[in-house]
Amino acid sequence: MTTMDTPPATGPALLATLGGRWYVDEEIFAAEQDLILERLWFCAVRSADLGAPGRFRRVQVGRESVLVVRGRDGALRAFLNICRHRGAMLCTRDAGQVRRNLQCPYHAWTYGLDGTLIAAPNMSSFEDGAGIDRTAYGLVPVALREWLGYAWVCLADEPPSFEAEVMGAVTARLGDPAAVEAYGIDTLELGHRVVYDVAANWKLIVENFMECYHCATIHPELTEVLPEFAQGLAAQVFVGHGAEFGSEIAGFTVDGSPGFDRLPGIGSDQDRRYFAVTVRPTVFVNLVPDHIIFHRMYPMAVDRTVVECDWLYTGDVVAQGRDTSRSVELFHRVNEQDFAACERTQPAMSSRAYRRGGVLVPAEHHIAEFHEWVRERVGDVG
Ligand code: FES
Ligand SMILES: [Fe+2]
Repeated sequence: MTTMDTPPATGPALLATLGGRWYVDEEIFAAEQDLILERLWFCAVRSADLGAPGRFRRVQVGRESVLVVRGRDGALRAFLNICRHRGAMLCTRDAGQVRRNLQCPYHAWTYGLDGTLIAAPNMSSFEDGAGIDRTAYGLVPVALREWLGYAWVCLADEPPSFEAEVMGAVTARLGDPAAVEAYGIDTLELGHRVVYDVAANWKLIVENFMECYHCATIHPELTEVLPEFAQGLAAQVFVGHGAEFGSEIAGFTVDGSPGFDRLPGIGSDQDRRYFAVTVRPTVFVNLVPDHIIFHRMYPMAVDRTVVECDWLYTGDVVAQGRDTSRSVELFHRVNEQDFAACERTQPAMSSRAYRRGGVLVPAEHHIAEFHEWVRERVGDVG
């Protein structure tokens, strides 16, 4: 007989999960914002979305609003979206384009696209006659790196090594740094994007992506294309392994019909295979021979996560208006099936039935390593 306060029985076959409060407790979420989302590299925007000088995008990174903007010199830069005068939010739109500079809507302090303060009304009449030290009151910069065609930002004063943390995660999964480069992701173009607003904690979405125990139950189309997924083993466990298409399957499409020519750089060992990569904390990359499905999460609240999913194809496929609907439909269905499962799980996280958590079966044991990773950063809060 167990009680609600007894940890679920575990043995070699069953490992304990995190307790329910990890998914509903505001203080834990605040700690994750501080110690995970604001300390690590966070994939913020697709670089090509900001194609011209003055184009900007506002994103939520942990507790901060971050502005990513294309400068007149062509470079992307990121800043805290806060006016240095009296703290008004500088940009109140999620995306857009300014002509030459960024002007605060409160008292009209004006910043260049490189973040420097260039004008403030009546500046020259200020007491010392010389106005304000413009360099001292520029926008607060945020570290930014571009990789795989995306701008990654980091709010830490001393960002961790991008090579070790981000590139290293991809290499650890694929077994070879050249493997991801072969897809030429940064040369691809956006064919389709869907933004999902998911009523679930971000960790439920990561955990779901990491395991395939659920594939046979909720992903009929995906297991048709990748028969080994029906066995429930997560391809992500095995370094360098990509799930192979079924013998009757021509392409990574909702009905197994042909896709497009394989991407020019990939080798035969990458053809007819699907590779899934998790880059903690918020990115999933899905590699198939003719396109890429790139997920970015934005944890907005303890029980709400926005997920942007991009389908990327060669420029030819996009320019010629080729029909991408069958490949989009496959992963769109997978996304809807996955997010519905996460949303079905979220309410249970505050139930007394889940106070001490649940269990991981052997096919999910690698999720324990993710839990350990979270605990190491946030501390052992229960
Ligand atoms: S708060 Fe921005 S100009 Fe005053
Ligand atoms: Fe899934």
